[in-house]
Amino acid sequence: MTESTTIRWEQDDTGVVTLVLDDPNQSANTMNQAFRDSLAAITDRLEAEKDSVRGVILTSAKKTFFAGGDLRDLIRVTPDTAQDLFDGGLAIKRNLRRIETLGKPVVAALNGAALGGGYELALACHHRVALDTPGTRIGCPEVTLGLLPGGGGVVRTVRLLGITDALLKVLLQGTQYNARRAQENGLVDEVAETPGELLAKARAFIDAHPESQQPWDRPGYRIPGGTPAHPKFAANLPAFPANLRKQTAGAPYPAPRNIMAAAVEGAQVDFETAQVIEARYFVELAAGQTAKNMIQAFFFDLQAVNSGANRPQGIEPRPVRRVAVLGAGMMGAGIAYSCARAGIEVLLKDVSLESAVKGKGYSEKLCAKAVSRGRTSQEKADALLARITPTAEAADLAGCDAVIEAVFEDPALKHKVFQEIEHVVAPDALLCSNTSTLPITALAEGVERQGDFIGLHFFSPVDKMPLVEIIRGERTGDEALARAFDLVRQIKKTPIVVNDSRGFFTSRVIGHFINEGVAMVGEGIEPASVEQAAAQAGYPAKVLSLMDELTLTLPRKIRTETKRAVEEAGGTWPTHPAEAVIDRMVDEFGRTGRSGGAGFYAYGEDGRRAGLWPGLREHFTKPGYEIPFRDMQERMLFAEALDTVKLLEEGVLTSVADANIGSVFGIGFPGWTGGVLQYINGYEGGLPGFVARARELAGRYGERFTPPALLVAKAERGETFTDAR
Ligand code: NAI
Repeated sequence: MTESTTIRWEQDDTGVVTLVLDDPNQSANTMNQAFRDSLAAITDRLEAEKDSVRGVILTSAKKTFFAGGDLRDLIRVTPDTAQDLFDGGLAIKRNLRRIETLGKPVVAALNGAALGGGYELALACHHRVALDTPGTRIGCPEVTLGLLPGGGGVVRTVRLLGITDALLKVLLQGTQYNARRAQENGLVDEVAETPGELLAKARAFIDAHPESQQPWDRPGYRIPGGTPAHPKFAANLPAFPANLRKQTAGAPYPAPRNIMAAAVEGAQVDFETAQVIEARYFVELAAGQTAKNMIQAFFFDLQAVNSGANRPQGIEPRPVRRVAVLGAGMMGAGIAYSCARAGIEVLLKDVSLESAVKGKGYSEKLCAKAVSRGRTSQEKADALLARITPTAEAADLAGCDAVIEAVFEDPALKHKVFQEIEHVVAPDALLCSNTSTLPITALAEGVERQGDFIGLHFFSPVDKMPLVEIIRGERTGDEALARAFDLVRQIKKTPIVVNDSRGFFTSRVIGHFINEGVAMVGEGIEPASVEQAAAQAGYPAKVLSLMDELTLTLPRKIRTETKRAVEEAGGTWPTHPAEAVIDRMVDEFGRTGRSGGAGFYAYGEDGRRAGLWPGLREHFTKPGYEIPFRDMQERMLFAEALDTVKLLEEGVLTSVADANIGSVFGIGFPGWTGGVLQYINGYEGGLPGFVARARELAGRYGERFTPPALLVAKAERGETFTDAR
């Protein structure tokens, strides 16, 4: 018998064996080869020494209980190696099953996060106790990486909670629960306040249940809520595909579909067969492209971005203590809330005290809602609000170590407000502008300390949107960049870093998405089909409705200014077919978007959307004119992807991870792609396939789809877009 290396065996004189998960080579326990070997060895030993074992406690010596599958291995799975994954997975499942059916009580003492594979280990135990710490997170988030829990997670949650709850509470959304909520929802049986209590409760279970069995191994067991074969259940079944459609809007997310199939099929067969069905659906996902895309973006890229791959090295972090937010409108109010929530003192300044107080009102509303939903305590909400001071006096900003400006999008006004406060705030205060379109280098000319000036582009609504785009102007110093990066992390958001350019990365690229949708309307395609194409491509907002939200006048203003700038610099402006449509909408029909009460959509008195404006069909649609639905989707996706490559060429973007994360978290590029550059990597036929398809689109729909030189060169060299793995 080999002594296990990652699972320690500790037996006391009462016969209780504590299995301590403690991978000596990693900071967290994962389902790597060493774990698999250890699990096999431990299972053998448990069976061999069964008579001297009274019960088993499974716990961990790490901060987290168990981190789950090793994503470095999973992202490399190909259809050729899929069989190994299948076999390896079944081996783990068989060993867990042997432990589960040993006839001895087995308790999971969850001392920290048990997500994915970690929760699956716990599910194979007869009883689950979770320590209530801030780090304890419980659930099966595999779906968010395009996977399903392939370690028995589908089979056991279905048998523990019933199909409906397993799907809705655990599997399809990937919700991560804290200890208390996990207990309320039936994922764990007990909660402990201290590590001592955790082990005491585990022992108490062993004492009380000397011959434990899983519910599903007891005679007469039935899946809670019934199985699909049961008439009562069958009545509920049609709701699932509808729910699924709602979740994915018809976009190509295979994981929810496979999860549902594994749950429903697995519920109709015996446990062992269900495990094989689950393994088959798991391996299909792991070998497919979507899981690779999502693992790349939501694990590797996100980690790279948040860990500061883009932050200048060697600059001591200096947390911001007191921030001045200039402008208490929609953005300023949200920024004030996010800073105060992170413990920063906020001076919220507007032209009048009344406007500033109104801006603080936004935080009051959010706090009241959070308290009423039990997400925070009244005490914490009060403390957050006490950190926000509304003011109209520049003198009140004395001592602020950072400034975030969010006044109207007007360069002269922005210069003026910075002049007013530059000498009032701390002499080395970080100076940030939340402009969404104005070049930072030119804005910086309004301040004396241009090295400390930087763009900090938040997204609306600020309290919900996780991304902040940091824009480095030509004269922005390394120190300012590092401090801006740290400030974004301090308020628990994700920073991407780009170099200055009109529209930066996000505003410029989302403009291409919108323009393409509008151009298709102008070409004569049914507007409803255009909206449908955007939804089915996986965009969270339909393209024409998004245009209405942003207003039709804003892109026109930006276009006029950019065109002027380009022409003044001796260049030529490439006219986009969307421009004529927008001009007609505004000049001929007076439709400027939602805020104007009329746009591509009609709006009711209450401001709600009341369907697409029928005039669109009358003035633009050519009856019978159609293009392939796939072309419609790919025109939008390609328009964004191709311009992102140009931004890399131009040096506005310097990192692939930033592009991927920024596109999904900031501007709604579909998550199944893994981001705008990963979309190119994962396209059928890889980069060469993407280049060929871009040329095809260019031939059919216009020069703007011509692949940029960088893309062609990379395709020829057999490279992909990656900088993090
Ligand atoms: P808003 O119109 O809601 O708010 C602007 C606020 O600035 C108003 O409360 C106004 O009273 C105040 N203000 C004007 N002059 C001032 C002065 N001299 N001193 C102090 N406050 C003054 O505008 P919003 O949407 O909040 O946008 C603000 C900035 O954020 C703009 O630069 C905009 O481009 C940018 N932005 C907007 C986004 C959006 O989705 N709305 C997204 C990202 C950036």
